Amino acid sequence: MKIDLTGRTAFVTGGSKGIGKAIVQSLAACGANVGVMARGRNDLDATVAEVNALGGGRVIGVAGDVADYDSIAAAVAQTAQTFGGLHLAVNNAGISGAEGLLHESGPGNWRTVMGVNLDGVGFAMMAEIAQMLEAGGGSIVNIASVEAHTVLRHFPVYTATKHALIGLTKGTAADYASLGIRVNSVSPGVIRTPLTMAPGQKEVTDRLEGKIPSGRLGESEEVARTVTFLLSDLSAYTTGTDVVVDGAFLLRE
Ligand SMILES: NC(=O)c1ccc[n+]([C@@H]2O[C@H](COP(=O)([O-])OP(=O)(O)OC[C@H]3O[C@@H](n4cnc5c(N)ncnc54)[C@H](O)[C@@H]3O)[C@@H](O)[C@H]2O)c1
Repeated sequence: MKIDLTGRTAFVTGGSKGIGKAIVQSLAACGANVGVMARGRNDLDATVAEVNALGGGRVIGVAGDVADYDSIAAAVAQTAQTFGGLHLAVNNAGISGAEGLLHESGPGNWRTVMGVNLDGVGFAMMAEIAQMLEAGGGSIVNIASVEAHTVLRHFPVYTATKHALIGLTKGTAADYASLGIRVNSVSPGVIRTPLTMAPGQKEVTDRLEGKIPSGRLGESEEVARTVTFLLSDLSAYTTGTDVVVDGAFLLRE
């Protein structure tokens, strides 16, 4: 069975690297046209050029900050205008924030992580859903985390935002089911990306890797395939649920 997204328009946040980039590649390979939003222009331009060179669906890049409503609303509108409507969306941009106990991490870290991980998804969904209602329906995937089901020690704000995303996903799935919009989330385990390999974060990744029952880190492409399935009509009766892609990390001893 082949997933064919020809004629569909998708919008992906944080699509310039890591899991988001793999999602953009997967959607374009299935024929979708994709609007990609990310913060830094350089990685974004490189990703757009790389995916367009592969010759699937067309990809455009829009630089901006998901924590800013006007910025994300403009990016969604530009995507819909360029390709003609919006049918699919992946709210993937996310940051882990500073490591530390809550009382030490301060209100600045709180605001930053909440801004990207929670405001960024809620704001994006407002703009995406408005476009999808005009298009007659759609499918949204929010990227949560295994930390939505457990905790990442010493990253309490990150943990809080990911738990909240599950609630946002379920609440909106119920509200929009009769209007033809499905909303699901995907919870990656420990995946090899620039985020988990970054200085300071790599030590956390190394510590977690030894505990994964599958014995290895996950790859971004493995998350992207599950996201692509949830966006496609193959999952037409699936909404309001979370799919964990973690090599059994949550079942470790
Ligand atoms: N890597 C993992 O192991 C892992 C595990 C569980 C969940 N996740 C989640 O998956 C998502 C992607 O993680 P990743 O590891 O690929 O991250 P990454 O750091 O490799 O890439 C993050 C992407 O988000 C973009 N971004 C960050 N802040 C932004 C902002 N304010 N506005 C617009 N774009 C912004 C960046 O430009 C980049 O494209 C995140 O939500 C993360 O929490 C990752």
